[in-house]
Amino acid sequence: MNDELRQELDWRLHVFDSLSYPTLILRPDRVVVAANDKFLQRAGATREEVVGRSCRVVFMKYWHDPEPPCAQRECPLGKTLESRMGHSVLRSLGGADGPERWEDRVFSPILDEEGKIRYVIESIRDVTRVERLERMFTGMQRLMNRVIQSSASAIVAANREGDLQLMNSAAEKLFGRKLHLGPALNIRNIYPPGVARKIMSALRGDGQGGRDKLQPFRTEILNASGERIPVEMTAAIIYEGAEEVATMGIYNDLREQLVVERRLREAQQQVMQSEKLASLGKLAAGVAHEINNPLTGIMLYASMLQEELPSDDPRHETLGYILEDATRCQEIVKGLLAYSRQTAATREDFLLNELVSDSLKLIRDQKRFLHVKVVWKLSQEPLVVRGDRKQLSQVIVNLVINALDAMEHQGTLTLRTYRDSAGKLAMLEISDTGGGISPEHRAHIFDPFFTTKEPGRGTGLGLSTSHGIVSENGGELTLLVSSAAGTTFRMALPVRSDSAVPEPKSIG
Ligand SMILES: Nc1ncnc2c1ncn2[C@@H]1O[C@H](COP(=O)(O)OP(=O)(O)O)[C@@H](O)[C@H]1O
Ligand SMILES: [Mg+2]
Repeated sequence: MNDELRQELDWRLHVFDSLSYPTLILRPDRVVVAANDKFLQRAGATREEVVGRSCRVVFMKYWHDPEPPCAQRECPLGKTLESRMGHSVLRSLGGADGPERWEDRVFSPILDEEGKIRYVIESIRDVTRVERLERMFTGMQRLMNRVIQSSASAIVAANREGDLQLMNSAAEKLFGRKLHLGPALNIRNIYPPGVARKIMSALRGDGQGGRDKLQPFRTEILNASGERIPVEMTAAIIYEGAEEVATMGIYNDLREQLVVERRLREAQQQVMQSEKLASLGKLAAGVAHEINNPLTGIMLYASMLQEELPSDDPRHETLGYILEDATRCQEIVKGLLAYSRQTAATREDFLLNELVSDSLKLIRDQKRFLHVKVVWKLSQEPLVVRGDRKQLSQVIVNLVINALDAMEHQGTLTLRTYRDSAGKLAMLEISDTGGGISPEHRAHIFDPFFTTKEPGRGTGLGLSTSHGIVSENGGELTLLVSSAAGTTFRMALPVRSDSAVPEPKSIG
C-alpha cells in the first residue's frame, strides 16, 4: 500500500469514527461490516460483538429494540436496496418503564462503478426532543382550537385579501353563516356598507387602542339574512415577523344587553318622573287649599252683590265676569286637588266597556260631539278590572276632551277595548284624527302644567293627573302613537280573571 492510499484510508476511518451520530455500515445481505465508536458506546457493545452479525440481531440484542421493522415491508434497508435511494424510518423505543425515545434511522446506499449497491450506511439520529416539541405543538394547537371554538364570543379571522379563514361556532351563529359552505366570504359582506373599511383604516391608523389593535367599540354587523345586529367588538392585525398576514375580530352580541339598558333607562326616568310628580303634588295641594278659601269668599260676596243689583245695572254684567273667572279658578283648584289626589281612593270591580260608555256620557258639553264620528270597537268578552271607578272615569274624560280639542271638534274618535296578547291586561285605546303632538312636546305632555292651549283653556293638569291615577290603580297610561294623522293614548289595567262579572252600575 503506498503512503497516499494509507493516508486516505486513515482519514476515512477517522471521519467514520468521529461522526456524532451512531452509524453502521451494512452489506446488502444485512450483515454489519463496521460500527463507529458512537454506535458501540450507545449500544454498550464491543466491535467484535457487532461486526459480522445481522443488523436485526444487533438491534434486538444491543440496541434494545425488541421489534425492529425487518419483517414488515417498512424496513428501510429493504427499500433502499430495492430503489437504490436513501430511506428513513422513525422509531420509538422504551416508554413502558424508561423514558420514551424517538430516533430517525437514515439509510444511504454506497454504489460501485456499475451502479450496484456495495454497502448501505445506516446512521441514527435521536429526535426525541424534536418529536416531543412537535407533539407539544400539535397538542397546543388542538387546545387553542378548542379554546377558540368553545369561546362564547364570536371570533373570525381573515387573510390579507379580507377573505374569512376562520369562524368559531359562536361566529357561525351570530353571522348565520358557515365558512366551508359556498364561495369565499369577504369581511366586507359581514358588515353594513362602509363599516369594514372604517374598521380597517382605524386598525392601520394610530387612533384608539394603539396601532394594530382596537379597544372594544360598538358597531353593527350584518348577518346572512341582511339583519343588522348591534355588537361590541375588538379587532387586531396579526403579523408574522414584520409582515401583516391576517386580521381578526372578536364580537359580543349586544341585543340582550341593549334591551336591559333601555329598560333600566326607562325605569330611571319613571322614578324621576314620579318623584317630580310627588313633590309637585304636595306643592299643588298646599296652594289649592290656600286659594280655595279666599276664592269661596270672592264668589260668595260677588254673588251677594249681584243679587242686590237690579239686572239692568251695568255693574251686574261686570260682577258676572268676576263670577265667571272665579268659577274658572275654582275649576283649576279642583284640578289641583285631583292632581294631588287629596280625595280618598276606593276599589271595586267593574266592566271596562261600561266604564268607557258611562264616562262619555259624563262629558257635559255634548255639543262638542256634533261633528265628531265616534267609532266603538269594544271587546266582545267582558273585561273585568278593579280600581277607583270615579277616578278612572275622570281619566277617560280627560283623554276624550283632549282628543276633541285636538280635532277642533270634527274628525273621528275611536274607542277600542281588548285583552292584550298575554291575556293579563285590559286595554283601552283612545284615538283621534287631530293634528298630533309635535315631537319636541312628546316628552313633556305628562308634566304637570304643561299645556299648549291658550291661557284659560288648558291647565296642563289633565294628562299628569290621569297618569298618576292609572299608575295608582296598577296600570299604565302611555302615548302609543302621534303623527299629523292623529294620536292614540292607551290605558292598560290588570284584568281580573277570578272575579264574576259585576252588576252594571252607573257612575254617581
Ligand atoms: N289627543 C291629543 N292630540 C294632540 N295633543 C294632545 C292630545 N292630548 C294631549 N295633547 C297635548 O298635551 C298637552 C297636555 O294635555 P293635558 O295635560 O290634558 O293639559 P291641557 O289639556 O289642559 O292642555 C295639551 O296641551 C296638548 O298639547
Ligand atoms: Mg287636557
